[in-house]
Amino acid sequence: MNNYIENLNWRYATKKFNPEKEVSDENLEILLDSIRLSASSYGLQPYEVIVIKDPEVKDKLKSSAFGQPQITDSSYLLVFAYRIDIDQAYLDKFIENNSKTRNKPIKEFDGLKEMIQNSVLTFSQEMKEVWASRQAYIAIGNLLSAAAELKIDTCPMEGFNPDEFDELLHLESKNLKSIALTTIGYRSENDGLQNEKKVRKSKEELFTRI
Ligand SMILES: Cc1cc2nc3c(=O)[nH]c(=O)nc-3n(C[C@H](O)[C@H](O)[C@H](O)COP(=O)(O)O)c2cc1C
Repeated sequence: MNNYIENLNWRYATKKFNPEKEVSDENLEILLDSIRLSASSYGLQPYEVIVIKDPEVKDKLKSSAFGQPQITDSSYLLVFAYRIDIDQAYLDKFIENNSKTRNKPIKEFDGLKEMIQNSVLTFSQEMKEVWASRQAYIAIGNLLSAAAELKIDTCPMEGFNPDEFDELLHLESKNLKSIALTTIGYRSENDGLQNEKKVRKSKEELFTRI
């Protein structure tokens, strides 16, 4: 079987992590790159990720995530939070970064700027927040696949109270709202789920080929 698909079969949403086995700094940076390099609508990356290693902070957050042990037993807890301030100032900063990175005059990005002004910036606040969180989920998908390539375990999680997380991590003052989590570490031998078959729809059910 293709190696990539083999690794996707190997991965599973890990319930029990081995708290003794830590993800190395080098591997953490690779995983963070997989998030950073993710595609996003227009490249706007309307989210940030809080990378938590501190056991005390994790401990505080655990009760706001239904006590799920992954929070404290994994090496890192990543909190994906979308930006609530997708406005003209945010767009101007984005265009400036394009110009600097590609070493081209800012004028060359007028078309892109106008396109974004006429689309994303016209969305209602509610629609902007839905749009921004969708972008964050693309990064989570990439993270899970990249981790599987490195034989590192993950658990994507929506089972938490976003309001409580926002308060504990002071996200509101940074114009952020938490939307999803991912824990990163190594599976415990005692996690029985690792031996279970993947439950998925058949290709016939999932795909319409035209
Ligand atoms: C957006 C999202 C939220 C999830 N939330 C949780 C969660 O809070 N706790 C948990 O243990 N698993 C959670 N999962 C894991 C799923 O239950 C799991 O991915 C699914 O059952 C498929 O199994 P597999 O990933 O092991 O192949 C979540 C998965 C996704 C994609």
